Amino acid sequence: MRIYEEADYRAMCRRAANILSACVILEPDCVLGLATGSTPLGIYDQLAQWCARGDLSFAAVHSVNLDEYRGLAPQHPQSYRYFMQSHFFDRIDIDPANTELPDGLADDPAAECIRYDTVLRRAGAPALQLLGLGHNGHIGFNEPADAFALGTHLVDLTASTISANTRFFASEGEVPRQAYTMGIAGILSARRVLVAVSGADKADAVARSFAGPVTPQVPASILRLHPDVTLVGDTAALAELKKTGVPFERV
Ligand code: F6R
Repeated sequence: MRIYEEADYRAMCRRAANILSACVILEPDCVLGLATGSTPLGIYDQLAQWCARGDLSFAAVHSVNLDEYRGLAPQHPQSYRYFMQSHFFDRIDIDPANTELPDGLADDPAAECIRYDTVLRRAGAPALQLLGLGHNGHIGFNEPADAFALGTHLVDLTASTISANTRFFASEGEVPRQAYTMGIAGILSARRVLVAVSGADKADAVARSFAGPVTPQVPASILRLHPDVTLVGDTAALAELKKTGVPFERV
């Protein structure tokens, strides 16, 4: 595992955007696995700026997102489709037809999970999967559990995740209780995984994920079995991991 320590959120985003853009430059028609949440906002902003300047093109890229709330329409401002459109897709030259997310309004959750796994299979292995990290170690919406869920599945969100996501809604009652998420097999199918973390509030989850035991109780810990993981974090987010003696690659 490669670990890059950056001074702050801005530098972390620039580093992550650099890695992502290198991937697109080397393989312009690649598949990118994408994430939502606060962490990637600066990464998407940096990539969109490079695209606007003509330094980067997503015209041939396909994207597959990790997750979507169940029950939210694509036009709902808190849906992940809306997030991706407004923060990234509408700002770059990607073909909208080449962007995939689970359908939050699907009538039949089981059928939707099968459909999304078919989408992922047809798209082929992502060249890179971008991940944020939940405070409880979740990746996508793979929450702590007794076993790793491999395929796309519908999740009951934990109290910790609902409370963390309340900041985006008018009240906690409005936060959807369920979400579709790519499973662990989908995430691990990427040729390269890029985990972006920022802030002292993530420090504990980072240490548990990358220095503790591999366990479904800390879903991100499974990433330690992936052959090509890059962790990009700011100093605050990496503080606890550093205490464990994990070697750092500084640039
Ligand atoms: C979002 C996702 C989640 C977030 C995680 C961290 O698509 O899959 O796992 O990456 O909840 O969220 P932020 O970045 O808001 O701290």
